[in-house]
Amino acid sequence: MKKTHAIFIANVRANLESMNTKDTQISGIENSMRARISEPETYQFSRKECARVHRFHRSLPGYTVTPLRRLRGLAGRLGVAELWVKDESYRFGLNSFKALGASYAISSMLLGQADDLIFDNVKAQVKGGQEPKPTFVTATDGNHGRAVAWIAQLLGANSVVYMPCGSQPVRVEAIRAHGGHVEVLDGSYDDAVRHAASQADANGWTVVQDTAWDNYTSVPLRIMQGYSTALTEVFNQIEGERPTHVFLQAGVGSMAASIQAVLIQEYGLQAPRVIIVEPEGADCYFESILAADGESRAIAGHLDTSMAGLACGTPSSLAWPIIRYYSAYFIKCKDDVTEIGMRILASPMGADKRVISGESGAVTTGLLTELLENKANRQMAEAISLGPDSKILLISTEGDTDPDNYGRIVGDHLLRTRQ
Ligand SMILES: Cc1ncc(COP(=O)(O)O)c(C=O)c1O
Repeated sequence: MKKTHAIFIANVRANLESMNTKDTQISGIENSMRARISEPETYQFSRKECARVHRFHRSLPGYTVTPLRRLRGLAGRLGVAELWVKDESYRFGLNSFKALGASYAISSMLLGQADDLIFDNVKAQVKGGQEPKPTFVTATDGNHGRAVAWIAQLLGANSVVYMPCGSQPVRVEAIRAHGGHVEVLDGSYDDAVRHAASQADANGWTVVQDTAWDNYTSVPLRIMQGYSTALTEVFNQIEGERPTHVFLQAGVGSMAASIQAVLIQEYGLQAPRVIIVEPEGADCYFESILAADGESRAIAGHLDTSMAGLACGTPSSLAWPIIRYYSAYFIKCKDDVTEIGMRILASPMGADKRVISGESGAVTTGLLTELLENKANRQMAEAISLGPDSKILLISTEGDTDPDNYGRIVGDHLLRTRQ
């Protein structure tokens, strides 16, 4: 048994090396642990559950469906049948998808899983409840903390947000603008998560973390269910079409696992091929798949990447089983790849609409372009079955959340020009 396992790892490593292309900055690995049947992990993302979540989001002030851009010009250039990009920069005016998770998790915690889970009822519950009002605490690299502060403020509650060392001041200020109390710590994102949990214990606050660990699953599950609305909207927007490939960027993996679970519930055996994408400096899923023993792996120390939202070293314990079972392929990229994606989405081709996409939002577009336009990556593109019949769905999960860096990368003349 042990011997077979060792040979298998060796094969995986050989495979990986052959898929490594220095000049294109990407490495890929096929998932040897893939299963194709609908496992219990996805049952919490049934159509009925997603409809309930969507109904709640529709009750929130400022809810609108975010655009799904059908980029025919770019699809033509890349030689694929369809390319859709869901633009989450429009989500509640917060510049990222994250409010979907925080709003649903906090509200369903406050009101329970009642069928009358709509914003006004939750707000009334907080208003009529005891003083002091509840305090929600979290750790964040920016977007999730902003979402927690936003919904806490809307509901009349409080928020405390811890951020890792090196967090951009613009991200700190975006959270303070929603009344959040922010502290930037001297450690990594994972250190900030631990600190938030210990402060919650000490002060009687409620942790709203977008990642799960042993005995902390209820809130992150609701956060993941909250993300389902992005895909529920997509199903309505693509009008009966079915993607063949979905590229999903992963930090702790909650977003990717949620989207993947909804895809499995919606399409079953016809579910699209999912490719998980991470920064090279924070590739905890890639390393976990490479180890191929069914256990997840954590990356220790400083996570060196400009993709702040993806700079997470530990897979969520709820996301790992879903991602491990269903994803077809795992790719890690250097930061240059997302910069390519940011520029491409900022400079639309033909009648395509511009998508303002930040570092964690554009990596899948940059990667797709590298896979299809750089001959050195042909083997990897073939391994993923990318070709003229491919219908690809990408999610631009954030806009220009760091506007200075965005301007530096795409060129100031394109800064903040929406089409
Ligand atoms: C913009 C953006 N994209 C993607 C992600 C990744 O989500 P997850 O950590 O659930 O994998 C994040 C996480 O914060 C993010 O902020």
